[in-house]
Amino acid sequence: MALLAQTPPMGFNTWNTFGPNIDEKMVMEMADVIVEKGYKDAGYKYVVIDDCWSLRERDEDGELVPDPAKFPHGMKYVGDYIHSKGLKFGMYSCAGIRTCAGFPSSFDHEFQDARTFASWGVDFLKYDFCYFPSFANCQHRYLQMAQALRASGRDILFSACNWGAQEPWNWMRSVGAHMYRSTGDIFDNFNSTAGIAKSQMDKFNANAPGCFNDMDMLTVGMNGIGNVGSGTEANSYNEYEFEFAYWCFCASPLMMGADLRKVDDKYRELLQNPGLIALNQDKEARPPYLVRNENGWTLWVRHLADGEFAIGVFNFADGDRWAEVTFAELGVPVNSGVKLDITDVITGEKVGLKKDDMFFPVRAHSCKIFRAKFVPEKRRRAAK
Ligand code: GLA
Repeated sequence: MALLAQTPPMGFNTWNTFGPNIDEKMVMEMADVIVEKGYKDAGYKYVVIDDCWSLRERDEDGELVPDPAKFPHGMKYVGDYIHSKGLKFGMYSCAGIRTCAGFPSSFDHEFQDARTFASWGVDFLKYDFCYFPSFANCQHRYLQMAQALRASGRDILFSACNWGAQEPWNWMRSVGAHMYRSTGDIFDNFNSTAGIAKSQMDKFNANAPGCFNDMDMLTVGMNGIGNVGSGTEANSYNEYEFEFAYWCFCASPLMMGADLRKVDDKYRELLQNPGLIALNQDKEARPPYLVRNENGWTLWVRHLADGEFAIGVFNFADGDRWAEVTFAELGVPVNSGVKLDITDVITGEKVGLKKDDMFFPVRAHSCKIFRAKFVPEKRRRAAK
């Protein structure tokens, strides 16, 4: 079996923009755009169909049935098309009796449904938590679906979605999920983004190759439009940049939620920002460390592969401020004998060699992300 989710999974999910209004034409167009507009080259590969794809009842064999009005050629046809583009195919079910929108889900049908998904060429399963029966054990049911997927004969990434119920950061990795939703649903405004971000600050420690804390699908570029769109309350550019950078810094999966056929160029560029994606996909996949949280002004460090590290400043507060970053707080005190060679991750600009501290402005709801390399201050004499 392939090792899945060695770095945070990246892709597109239908829910944020389309909700129940999904069909094969839209999904296939999205696959086209992911290839044609550079998203695939940037690393995005899963095209995930969320809730509302099936009929309201199973057939006489107990099988899930795609809604013929939405998917007239069935799901394998859609999967084959997605695969023909060099992308991966994702679908959705639920651990409870019904999906959140009331469609049949996989409780007591785990192995049957996993085999069905495998026969359609599914590579990724999002697995939700609505209508979960009070008599059942949540951890055990996620374990059972992980087993069913592994027994299906296909490599299927298991995207568990239990909204943070029963502290999944303590056990989801061990029951076999590759990513797990740790919060309730995101909405396309800064209150929602910031609420989710703050709720997870101390909950990334289980992040490592194979399984990642998933803070929900991105709203970047939605501009207020769609199922979780917030109209005129939508995020500003700075706020979308904050969201994308925070998800990247914390190694959350990057599942885009905007209609990629219509996203403005500036948001397409943000979603494809090479420095931020490299940070998200860092192969050491270490969790971030929160150094300081002072009234919503937060300073973070994250170790990266090859001895580099990232510095993040996220200003959750409603006011602009000058940010002071003293290197002692980063664990590199004045007598360390090293300087830091700093690059701005978002712009790619070289900041240069720094020692002791940095001082720069950070607007409200904005962030600054740097990458740092160690440079010896002077050549050391050989120890006697
Ligand atoms: C829940 C999930 C969402 C989405 C919907 C679909 O609310 O958290 O991400 O999958 O169900 O009904």
